[in-house]
Amino acid sequence: MTRTVFVNGEYCDESDATISIFDRGFLFADAVYEVTAVIGGGLVDWGHHLKRLKRSLKELQIEISVSDEELFLIHKKLIDSNQLMEGLIYLQISRGVADRDFFFPKPEVQSSLVLFTQKKSIINNPSVKNGIKIISLPDNRWGRCDIKTVQLLAASMNKMSALSLGKDDAWMVKGGFVTEGTSNNAYIITKNNTLVTRKKSTSILAGVTRQVLLELTNHLEIKVEERPFSIEEVKIAKEAFSSSATSLLVPVVEIDSCSIGDGKPGKMTKLLREKYLMKVQKSLL
Ligand code: PDD
Repeated sequence: MTRTVFVNGEYCDESDATISIFDRGFLFADAVYEVTAVIGGGLVDWGHHLKRLKRSLKELQIEISVSDEELFLIHKKLIDSNQLMEGLIYLQISRGVADRDFFFPKPEVQSSLVLFTQKKSIINNPSVKNGIKIISLPDNRWGRCDIKTVQLLAASMNKMSALSLGKDDAWMVKGGFVTEGTSNNAYIITKNNTLVTRKKSTSILAGVTRQVLLELTNHLEIKVEERPFSIEEVKIAKEAFSSSATSLLVPVVEIDSCSIGDGKPGKMTKLLREKYLMKVQKSLL
């Protein structure tokens, strides 16, 4: 069955969906995106995704043509039309269609809005049982990783480097410290049970899952340090994991061929993932 997608005000079959070759998302990666998880047919952490989307748009001075409520209803309609129980909704807003020029086009040029659904197993994510193996690589992305733009080639190339070595992902390193994973935030749990993750800055994406998780650790009275950590620290950590909307928390059991902890998914990671899942299931929209 093909999907119903949303393109610039129209719902249509995916095979009929078109975007101009002059769209600045296509020519300049002049576009932002959001990925919102769907569990049990409901949206996960929608309010946070909307807030981050609006921040990304503001940073790039891109105007959106629909209201928050309309955006929410488009998400809900796509879930219904595609009978999506578990997976994600991808949303992309580009600056719109204009002659190719490095200057932004005039403000009257309308931004392009595209949304589609994709099935994905989130609750029974196959990576969770055994954890993932990762490598470290230099972070060669641009300097505004806090804006969720569609220029993902550096991340994609790093992911491919990991794959070519038979590994699952890469954590990126800048100035001697881990920034984040290719498409996720990075955490370690130290030997004295402290959860460590990098502070929000222009070097990382402020993950929605990261934010909700940190709120959760507050309630659970888990000690948290928001600070940079090195690959050496990862190697001697008790546990490590990554977080993102569509995988929630995924244990990391190896880095650069060195086992983390006992080389199996850690207890605290498992507990936090369970608690996260319980929390989101109570607040689905
Ligand atoms: N990626 N860091 C990067 C670089 C990301 O691309 C993502 C998300 C995250 C985690 O953010 P969140 O918890 O809000 O999903 C961190 C999405 C899932 C993607 O590109 O598919």
